Amino acid sequence: MIVALNHKSNLTLEEITKYLNEYRKIDFQNHELIILPTAIYLPLMKDLTFGSQDVSCKEQGAYTGEVSAKSIASLKASYTLINHSERLTKLGEDLSISKQKLKNAIENNLTPIICIGDTEIEHEEGIYLTKIKADLNYLLKDLTSPNFIIAYEPIFAIGTGKIPNVQDIQKVITMLKETYKVKVLYGGSANLANIDTLKTIEGLDGFLLGSLSLDLKSLNLFLQKLS
Ligand code: PGA
Repeated sequence: MIVALNHKSNLTLEEITKYLNEYRKIDFQNHELIILPTAIYLPLMKDLTFGSQDVSCKEQGAYTGEVSAKSIASLKASYTLINHSERLTKLGEDLSISKQKLKNAIENNLTPIICIGDTEIEHEEGIYLTKIKADLNYLLKDLTSPNFIIAYEPIFAIGTGKIPNVQDIQKVITMLKETYKVKVLYGGSANLANIDTLKTIEGLDGFLLGSLSLDLKSLNLFLQKLS
């Protein structure tokens, strides 16, 4: 399975150095691990499978502070997250910005891991499949490359310890697999307590982990349970 590790804005240089020393000793159990560190640590990932958490919506040029897809690709990164809900809900971005980022990622041969999710209200009202499809259709319209991954991340599950019931997740995964015919991950409070349940979801190709990715002892156990 694919296991993508979203470090978010965590770890100092000293901490990531220690982390990488331990990470290199982990038994990946035949899973494909993708490390997504804070952007400034990307050059430390050379010998690993890695990607960025974001790319700029702008191309290279006079955009102070932005990190372009082209620069990230030049470090030999393979992947980038696109449309993570924290960028939308906490950093004021929207789907049109994500669409621009997606275009830049594809043009620079980064495989996008497109995050998509529903709010708790949308989930409770039963409109989550429609909402997810509408967002994805907007993002994917005009996209020529079939090379992308989708990560289903219910917004209310991210960092909360709470996941939707597994039948609802199954419905989303089945719809995504049937409609888009790409690899599909689940993300949002995937942890040691719920992995036995989550891994029963049919068609799932892996997980996107946030907090668990920072704790290598737990990650190790997670990989063992997944095998
Ligand atoms: P979490 O984060 O595993 O801490 O819920 C997942 C994510 O935001 O990708």
